[in-house]
Amino acid sequence: MKDKHIVVGVTAGIAAYKAVDLVSRLRKAGADVKVVMTKNATKFVSPLVFGEISKHPVAVDMFEEVHDWNVEHIAYATWADAYIVAPATANIIGKMANGIADDMLSTQLLATTAPIFVCPAMNSNMYAHPAVQENLDTLRSRGVMIMEPDSGLLACGVEGKGRLPNPENIVKWVDFHLGKTDILNGKTVLVSAGGTQEPIDPVRFITNRSSGKMGYAIALKAAQAGANTILVSAPTELDVPYGVTFVPVRSAMEMKAVIDGYYHDVDAVIMAAAVADYRVAETADNKIKKQDSMALELVKNPDILAGLGASKAHQKLIGFAAETQYVIEYGKEKVRKKNLDMLVANDVSKANAGFDVDTNEVTFIYPGDQIVSLPTMSKIDVAERIIQALADL
Ligand code: CTP
Repeated sequence: MKDKHIVVGVTAGIAAYKAVDLVSRLRKAGADVKVVMTKNATKFVSPLVFGEISKHPVAVDMFEEVHDWNVEHIAYATWADAYIVAPATANIIGKMANGIADDMLSTQLLATTAPIFVCPAMNSNMYAHPAVQENLDTLRSRGVMIMEPDSGLLACGVEGKGRLPNPENIVKWVDFHLGKTDILNGKTVLVSAGGTQEPIDPVRFITNRSSGKMGYAIALKAAQAGANTILVSAPTELDVPYGVTFVPVRSAMEMKAVIDGYYHDVDAVIMAAAVADYRVAETADNKIKKQDSMALELVKNPDILAGLGASKAHQKLIGFAAETQYVIEYGKEKVRKKNLDMLVANDVSKANAGFDVDTNEVTFIYPGDQIVSLPTMSKIDVAERIIQALADL
């Protein structure tokens, strides 16, 4: 969303008040937002509110005498990187489908070549009406993106489908599609993430400092690249990225069982998880009571990635290495030992790389000791480079 120009079109539904939160979230995500309202929408929320939140004048009237030519409809239509119509009434959907341009918003929606995202919100009978559904199909066939409304208690007092989705999800949805490419179209990619939890007893476990941020960023970018993406994740604090199949696991043994189950059918595995090297030899069935001292016996976990490397057929394998010294030397060794197509090595002793931080500084190491070092960048940018490297492979 950073520096993207977004026009939010607000039409006359009771959910118009939620569009205030939508505009605020878009701005927090880094977008420059302008709001266009239909005349009736201004009966639900004052344009003043949207003006304050977006920091731009709000356009309503086509024929208002303009003080600044930038409020003219064509200027908006060319300024926009994307249009979001939220809430979208049956009326605006009908106008869009039939090429009607009789006010500021509908005229802009005809005049723009930017991608259009429509979030219908209305009474459930209206939403289900064949006229509305056929209009939505027409829009879909022209490449307009439609977000299904949520189900629940509607403002009109009935239970059903027609609620405007949570603005947070609308932002994720738009962001996902604006960053979409097709470099992994038709491929299936499994990404592992997070630090595994090795149980001691029913209330305790051993884990590590992995936040899961790198793996989640990779999964998002893989899905945006068009891959059918499976995210196998140990517990993290993060929201599940948009567009992935999410499989939660806890321990290394569980993670191994899940990944092995998928392995035959995937085109690539990216092992970003921090898999615990050891597990507790015997997990207690009941909570262990305190004692003056205690010792835990640990046994070695199987190396999931090495196992995948040993039985590799058509799959591409990308591993990670977190090191604090001899990063390249150890990395080259791991590429050979685990039969990898690429290793992402990072020096976790650096302040701007590794655990918990939002940036990373990594080196790609390939078989034959080919090396590509990247400068410090955000984890989402590193993820994009990894997905590009996978597509190249
Ligand atoms: N890995 C794995 N299974 C394990 C341990 C690690 O699949 N039991 C994977 C990680 O997901 C990562 C890669 O192996 O992609 C490298 O892990 P790392 O801990 O850096 O290296 P190790 O091979 O475990 O070697 P060492 O701990 O000696 O550095």
